[in-house]
Amino acid sequence: MRTLYINIGELLQIRDHSTTYLSGNEMNILPRLQDAFLLVENDTIADFGEMRYADAVSADRIIDLQGKFMLPAWIDSHTHLVYAGNREQEFVDRINGLTYEEIASKGGGILNSAKRLQETPEDDLYEQSKLRLEQVMAQGTGAIEIKSGYGLTPEAELKMLRVIKRLQADFPATIKATFLGAHAVPAAHKGNRDEYMNVVINEMLPAVAEEKLADFVDIFCEKGYFSVEDMERLLRASKKFDLKAKVHVNQFNITGGVPAAVKHNALSVDHLEIINEEDIAALKNSDTMPVALPLCSFFISIPYTPARRMIDAGLPLALASDYNPGTSPSGNMNLVIATACIKMNMTPEEAINAATVNAAYAMGLEATHGSITKGKKANLIITKSIPSYGYLPYDFGNTNIHQVILEGKEI
Ligand code: NIG
Ligand code: FE
Repeated sequence: MRTLYINIGELLQIRDHSTTYLSGNEMNILPRLQDAFLLVENDTIADFGEMRYADAVSADRIIDLQGKFMLPAWIDSHTHLVYAGNREQEFVDRINGLTYEEIASKGGGILNSAKRLQETPEDDLYEQSKLRLEQVMAQGTGAIEIKSGYGLTPEAELKMLRVIKRLQADFPATIKATFLGAHAVPAAHKGNRDEYMNVVINEMLPAVAEEKLADFVDIFCEKGYFSVEDMERLLRASKKFDLKAKVHVNQFNITGGVPAAVKHNALSVDHLEIINEEDIAALKNSDTMPVALPLCSFFISIPYTPARRMIDAGLPLALASDYNPGTSPSGNMNLVIATACIKMNMTPEEAINAATVNAAYAMGLEATHGSITKGKKANLIITKSIPSYGYLPYDFGNTNIHQVILEGKEI
């Protein structure tokens, strides 16, 4: 099946296969083509170019986009989309003055979600998660990473990862799974973190690897959660199973987790609301992608990752939603991009690059996703009729998407 899209007002994010990720000044450049055509063959971008060459292209069907923009689908490299129930009461508690950390220390937060997830049958968990996935796909997300971490027992962690596997099989979005058993110390191991880390490393990790349920491993490296030593232990153990790391680090405190993650060649370090020069130096010339989660900062009123400081220091940066019931009950990448522009002073070009090319790298998908490149996956967004791409973050709160195409199919 060959579908030819014609009269594209502007084709955004055109790259060749040599682009793996963008750092520093490169992030401010968004290569594009006006008045273009694009050919999709089955699930792949087969060709594109100036409209005047479209006549020579044969196709089974032709779709006239009448000046609309086309760009690669968003890539959300950090979510906790599989969860049970919601936490709107904690949201109200925070409005009334409690902090996220105070709520967590009273048994709320992650442990609250873990209790509900443990009580929720797998099919029910699948149904709840499926609705969220359908929603973010309609908002333009074509590839998404989903973590476990609300199970916190071997059975419940495996249940979460099996739900992710079912979503992978049932939906055209590209999904990667991350094992986050070390998300919080569960009540059953309260005060005994080492004992729980033994369960994570000696019981959960081998079971996850055996069933091939995860692509990556993660840990919440933070005061009151897990230490840098715990992270190093987990990352060493994960290497034996060939699982690369994507870690939660520096959300509330500088822990030393960034240099340690870089040392272990983590694929990404995520959050970074608090960061120091040592962290920036460690990330410089490393292969580790820093990932900012602006909706988490917005929702729980904590500092934003200092994107300007990082990009101006020459670092790359990716953006993700952190979709989860506690700190970001939204997986809308359009809002992520707008918030990055409004609150982190990223330019529209930087934000779009961070949510496509750099996000693909943060999921290990840079060879197949994240740009308009011949041979890459036909995961595409067609915008409504908009005056320029800067209108996308400007018109925040609205989703200016006319059509999403995943694996070559209009969804
Ligand atoms: O990325 N920081 C740790 N984990 C999640 C929040 C988890 C929750 O509150 O349920 C995050 O923000
Ligand atoms: Fe997270």
